[in-house]
Amino acid sequence: MGAVLVVIYLNKEINLTDHKTICPQEYGKKNGTQTTPLTKNTSWPRCQQNMSAASVTNFSSLPGRIQDFLYYQHCRHFPMLLDIPDKCGGADRSSEVFLLLVIKSSAANHDRRVALRKTWAKERSHNGVWIRRLFISGTMGAGFEKKRWNKFLELEQREYSDILQWDFNDSFFNLTLKQILFLEWMERNCPHVHFLLNGDDDVFANTDNMVQYLQSLKDNDGSKHLFIGHLIQNVGPIRLPWNKYYIPVQVQESDTYPPYCGGGGYLLSRYTALVIYRISQSITIHPIDDVYMGMCLAKAGLSPESHIGVQTAGIYIPSHKIDNYDPCYYREILLVHRFLPADLYLMWHRLNEPNQECFADAK
Ligand SMILES: *[C@@H]1O[C@H](CO)[C@@H](O)[C@H](O)[C@H]1NC(C)=O
Ligand SMILES: *[C@@H]1O[C@H](CO)[C@@H](O)[C@H](O)[C@H]1NC(C)=O
Ligand SMILES: *[C@@H]1O[C@H](CO)[C@@H](O)[C@H](O)[C@H]1NC(C)=O
Ligand SMILES: *[C@@H]1O[C@H](CO)[C@@H](O)[C@H](O)[C@H]1NC(C)=O
Ligand SMILES: *[C@@H]1O[C@H](CO)[C@@H](O)[C@H](O)[C@H]1NC(C)=O
Repeated sequence: MGAVLVVIYLNKEINLTDHKTICPQEYGKKNGTQTTPLTKNTSWPRCQQNMSAASVTNFSSLPGRIQDFLYYQHCRHFPMLLDIPDKCGGADRSSEVFLLLVIKSSAANHDRRVALRKTWAKERSHNGVWIRRLFISGTMGAGFEKKRWNKFLELEQREYSDILQWDFNDSFFNLTLKQILFLEWMERNCPHVHFLLNGDDDVFANTDNMVQYLQSLKDNDGSKHLFIGHLIQNVGPIRLPWNKYYIPVQVQESDTYPPYCGGGGYLLSRYTALVIYRISQSITIHPIDDVYMGMCLAKAGLSPESHIGVQTAGIYIPSHKIDNYDPCYYREILLVHRFLPADLYLMWHRLNEPNQECFADAK
């Protein structure tokens, strides 16, 4: 059995150049095991701007990003520019993937992707199960600048085969869109993976610990509800226009958000991912992606839960005389926000060094 898995893995590695640009109308059309290559100028009906969005109260006094959001809030379908339909070995075989890492990363964050590929997001088998990696991305800029960034991601894709890219502006307020597009992709291509880590590209995730934690769940192999992270409750929209998270009443009238987990990183089961995707079709897009996940969970009657190992607001180190990056603080952690690529690289390697002496051991 072990040998069979190894062979499959090697084959996948050899196919690394098997990246393709897939157009929407080509979905599901297979030629043998290969997805039909595409022609460049296939068209997807461009989602039209909703002109009557401008009729909401005080529209012209809203910040540009909010106006933009209101104009395009209803758009949920965008063509794919980069796809890897067989990332999980095909939909039917996707149960062989235990943990799928789904990392939000815009084209410009090349250095973060480089560090992640070498550290916690390395595709590998740990404790007998497979970990796979995907970066999810939109587009940057316009005109020739956009073309340049697209080409850049295409080159990365050729080397690593780990990017899903859709043709929408990769802005902060489009992260929910990115999330929904990913879940739609997952339902089609990886519906049987056991668990997913959904997170940012500037976190340190101890994916070895995650696998062990998920394996220790007695009655859940991914077929039941799981949604854990840094739980945020009893908060509501920020009404200050200069704040990054500003949500005016024109976007959300209610002053409360449902409980949700901070978007820096959360773990969920395939069951919960698919429930969220299906229910999202009946929930208007909210621009803040982690809040939107909370809205979907609430409507589905499911709760997000807190896990002490997820520290999306950073980790508290009791004294400034102690090295904040002492690996001893990170041995038991699942995820910490935020880490620069160099710190990440060092931490991952220090954690994996044998014979570490930590204060806890001395007790
Ligand atoms: C697969 O693609 C090749 C090349 O485009 C074509 O000649 C062949 O007929 C296709 N086979 C099927 C089963 O569609
Ligand atoms: C367009 O915006 C108006 C005003 O906000 C809204 O009532 C309408 O439902 C929107 N249309 C679509 C297709 O989203
Ligand atoms: C619209 O602007 C007016 C004048 O600045 C203000 O009094 C009112 O509260 C605003 N309404 C909304 C819904 O923002
Ligand atoms: C993308 O969105 C950002 C933020 O709303 C905006 O500043 C930028 O101009 C947009 N880019 C394009 C090409 O639309
Ligand atoms: C989201 O992306 C679409 C497609 O590029 C763009 O038209 C829209 O302005 C973006 N929305 C925001 C809020 O940036």
